[in-house]
Amino acid sequence: MKQPIFLGVNVDHVATVRQARGGLYPDPVHAALQAEIAGADGITMHLREDRRHIQDHDIERFAACTQSKLNLEIAATEEMLAIAKKIKPHDVCIVPEKREELTTEGGLDVIGQQNKLAEYCSELHNDDIFVSLFIDPNEAQIEAAARIGAPVIEIHTGRYAEAKNDTERAAELANIVSASDYAYSLGLLVNAGHGLQFNNIQRIAEIETIHELNVGHSLVARAMYTGLPEAVKEMKRLMVEARYFSSPAL
Ligand code: PXP
Repeated sequence: MKQPIFLGVNVDHVATVRQARGGLYPDPVHAALQAEIAGADGITMHLREDRRHIQDHDIERFAACTQSKLNLEIAATEEMLAIAKKIKPHDVCIVPEKREELTTEGGLDVIGQQNKLAEYCSELHNDDIFVSLFIDPNEAQIEAAARIGAPVIEIHTGRYAEAKNDTERAAELANIVSASDYAYSLGLLVNAGHGLQFNNIQRIAEIETIHELNVGHSLVARAMYTGLPEAVKEMKRLMVEARYFSSPAL
């Protein structure tokens, strides 16, 4: 029997619009609660060092009232560790972070910082937080993630999403399929995300070893026209259709 596929909704860009004027609206917590009611299985908030979108009070307010789960995305810094240990979200996803980037541009180099990340993961694990490492679809990085005891990885789908033609897209998809199957065979739970949209998510949702997909920008963009609940319902429908009713021709 096929495993279910879950949708995590990233509401950072609701906060981006709010921060453009520095006021109270639109509120990412309000959006997160709407997304939950529409069928989101979890909500992601990325607390960046420069606080460009999500603010500390957003994660505090949402953690206090969520009926799904909070996936707190952070860089592996001491400041963020203290915040995660205070808030105790269900999940923490560790991402690389550069001040000058527009969004999270690549996966973590787990191999290059194994000792530091092993300690970081174990600190979070001690608080019963499920830790995920955001990495490129690369076997050596996956092996390193398993070695340091991370229970979950999130595969960066950006190169697939940004592929310039069908050949490139097929090659990136093949990488993601084999990376996901390999991670699953090592006992890791496999999530994926970045750049997923209404027109490219089904190929990823079809991959049976993937557990959860995290989507932000395309949902918030669609919400401008249809409202967030409609956008979330449609994304989830596409994912479920691909998971349960996929055929080689899809
Ligand atoms: N997963 C991770 C780890 C991310 O950093 C992001 C972007 O914030 C996403 C998923 C969602 O990407 P997008 O906004 O392109 O859907």
